[in-house]
Amino acid sequence: MISTATKIADFNFGNCLMNAAGVYCMTREELAEIEASAAGSFVTKTATLEARTGNPEPRYADTHLGSINSMGLPNKGFNYYLDYVTELQKQADTKNHFLSLVGMSQKETHTILKQVQASDYQGLVELNLSCPNVPGKPQIAYDFETTEEILSQVFSYYKKPLGVKLPPYFDIVHFDQAAAVFNTFPLAFVNCINSIGNGLVVDDEAVVIKPKNGFGGIGGDYVKPTALANVHAFYQRLNPSIQIIGTGGVKSGRDAFEHILCGASMVQIGTALHQEGPAIFERITKELKDIMADKGYETLEDFRGQLKYMN
Ligand code: DHB
Repeated sequence: MISTATKIADFNFGNCLMNAAGVYCMTREELAEIEASAAGSFVTKTATLEARTGNPEPRYADTHLGSINSMGLPNKGFNYYLDYVTELQKQADTKNHFLSLVGMSQKETHTILKQVQASDYQGLVELNLSCPNVPGKPQIAYDFETTEEILSQVFSYYKKPLGVKLPPYFDIVHFDQAAAVFNTFPLAFVNCINSIGNGLVVDDEAVVIKPKNGFGGIGGDYVKPTALANVHAFYQRLNPSIQIIGTGGVKSGRDAFEHILCGASMVQIGTALHQEGPAIFERITKELKDIMADKGYETLEDFRGQLKYMN
């Protein structure tokens, strides 16, 4: 019997595939569709203290090789998502979930997380340190000092399972420095990667999205090698208690297989889910199981992290 079941911290998931934050997760209705699909979990749209309308439209475009977006953190305010995951948690046959959060300032991040700490929610939180699309706000995780400061403060009061969503890093020294920071905290997981920030797609003579004169986060085929590199770099460097969620460029069972081979315990689907809808989870699960069957693997543990090097 081949299984794609997995575990993050103390939470079990019947399938390792789920949505990536930002895709199919803005409303209860979208989240309910992921819940009803073959996905093992869902993560909610990254939420701020107050609801936001985000950047002007068009702010997402599909391209031949993926997507570009500059949504600008539109969301319904964190209480909307906290209420929904807390409600689901009370149901007998529920899946486990991830609540994605970040403040518009450090102060706001702490206000939100203190409320989640005090709430009935017992599930996982993904603190998003990598939103590239809010004008004037740099990605937190590219500033290691600020990252360290935020995490030290967070872990002084936040005692529930928490992980971080990371932007891609592109230099070995940055993998070393980032991992050294994360290894000092009791993180449940790191999620690699968010979109490659601030790309530019040109169609004929014009940009394809309106905000920031066309600059936006890149996802899809373009990002898979960068995603795999980040998954594997952190798999090699982090304490084994910090698990890896792999995100970036997954549109087939083969892509998911590669993320797991590089060290991922769970695999998220963004651009391809946007393009194909929640039925994608059934397709990719089957493709992944077929690959596992071909290779004689029965569980993800049989090949997770087992990437082969040349000697
Ligand atoms: C948005 C984009 C991101 O990549 C992210 O991590 C958070 C928010 C956005 O533009 O809404």
